[in-house]
Amino acid sequence: MSLNDVLPQPLEHHALDDLPWWQRAIFYEIAPISFQDSNGDGKGDLPGLISRLDYLDWLGVSAVWLTPVFRSPMRDFGYDITDFCDIDPLFGTMQDFDRLLELLHQRGIRLILDFVPNHTSDAHPWFLESRSSRSSEKRNWYVWANACEDGGPPNNWLSRFGGSAWEWDELTEQYYYHSFLLEQPDLNWRNPELRRAMADVLRFWLRRGVDGFRVDASAVLAEDDLLRDDPPDPNANATTPPPQRLKRIFTDDRRESMGYLEEIRQVLDEFENRVLVGEVQGKTDRIGHFYGEARPRLHLPLNFLLLDSSWDALSLQANIDAYQNAIPTAAWPDWVIGGHDKKRVASKIGQPQSRILAMLLLTLRGTPFLFAGDEIGLEQASIAPNQVTDPFEKLVGGYGLNRDPQRTPLRWDATPKAGFTTGVPWLPIGDSATERNIDRLKSDKHSLLWLYRRLIELRNKEPALVAGDYVPIRSVHDILTYGRAYKGVNLIVALNLMHQPRRLKWSGHGTLQLSTYLDRQGETIYGPVVLRPDEGIVIKQTKE
Ligand code: GLC
Repeated sequence: MSLNDVLPQPLEHHALDDLPWWQRAIFYEIAPISFQDSNGDGKGDLPGLISRLDYLDWLGVSAVWLTPVFRSPMRDFGYDITDFCDIDPLFGTMQDFDRLLELLHQRGIRLILDFVPNHTSDAHPWFLESRSSRSSEKRNWYVWANACEDGGPPNNWLSRFGGSAWEWDELTEQYYYHSFLLEQPDLNWRNPELRRAMADVLRFWLRRGVDGFRVDASAVLAEDDLLRDDPPDPNANATTPPPQRLKRIFTDDRRESMGYLEEIRQVLDEFENRVLVGEVQGKTDRIGHFYGEARPRLHLPLNFLLLDSSWDALSLQANIDAYQNAIPTAAWPDWVIGGHDKKRVASKIGQPQSRILAMLLLTLRGTPFLFAGDEIGLEQASIAPNQVTDPFEKLVGGYGLNRDPQRTPLRWDATPKAGFTTGVPWLPIGDSATERNIDRLKSDKHSLLWLYRRLIELRNKEPALVAGDYVPIRSVHDILTYGRAYKGVNLIVALNLMHQPRRLKWSGHGTLQLSTYLDRQGETIYGPVVLRPDEGIVIKQTKE
């Protein structure tokens, strides 16, 4: 088998420079509260983040996505906002923000912000005004409905964070709708005035120079206007968290929401070179939809398949294919291996296979996204019951939904507070912090951290890894195998998913570009290759 066997015709390729920056970029998600504290309050902030920019440079990431830094009572990690156009004092000031943006841009690193269109905090002035009376001029900026005949909520819709999605308001004697916490009332996107206000929020940041947004909960902007009840989910059982026991037919992924995403995109397109990334709930077979049809929606609907897949060569091969089938031919793919809502993948697949995941992420066709800490193999931290901060866990406990374990502070060094803070860290630093921290891994040239760095380097210098076609190759013997082909350059990626050695059947000639063991570089490969336990390799094919 060689790549030429599977790829008979050379394809037309775009020059690398013609690709928009976000197709070439490597995104790094930062939750500032957990990145670096500068003032000893135990919570990370923007000056702290600024003091760590050399690290981002060293690692080689080219875009940062910041989770919300806006004014907020912080009931949901900043996703409950009281002012979309100001920085919360917890994180610093607008001057700090502008400085961060400027310094990142000086280093050639882009910055995207979280845009939270679905809801505000219940302490947002808009909501205070809206709830003040039924005749308030902002009444219709949120979703209000009358009680049903028995006085109960208007219908059976459930909050994702537990209980009814409707909250009774004594003063005006109506219910308001909240997809998430009752302190996060949903905005009414059917109202054009609200949509104009939100468009201005986008323009505010775009004019300041941000490179785009990650749209939070982008599938849930509109709910059914007939308030039809959601049906039970036939797959739910006693172990299913109660908020997930209905199928969200009438609250999620509605046609109207797609229209609103198109409007958001139009605002973005008033500016040059910006990107719209989006959190989309749901199944792979719906993801293509979020790119848009006649009118564009998101550039990059976030794809969590690598995280959600079973960890074996055949499942991964199938999931990669299913995803590619599910997106439009011209759509650009993306791959996410971590996030503030997702369990740390290293805890699921273990440290040795985390190296395989790193190579997979950085050699697939599509924009890679990692969450700060993934590059050192951070695992789920154990959180004692009295340390829980996540409202999701507090309200729907006992189902393993707590998101605190993946949100613990980044470890910079082996000191007791990991170099993160001089105060009391807002979440525990976690286990084995003296072993698994950035300093330590940086001093070991064979560490996972170095592997990330080398993979990023390789991706940046090898156009086939960015702009090349993805060439499927049949995976056998537990080795996930595929090719990348660009202007006559053929790369083979072979990833051993097992803790035992495996033999890669291959009949070509090539040079080994990189092994996950960070050795063997430059070795000539001729014919079959033995992969060591948990070893992945990238080979560049050469003429026989
Ligand atoms: C998104 C965020 C999540 C938050 C929720 C409500 O899913 O990623 O962290 O809790 O929206 O805003």
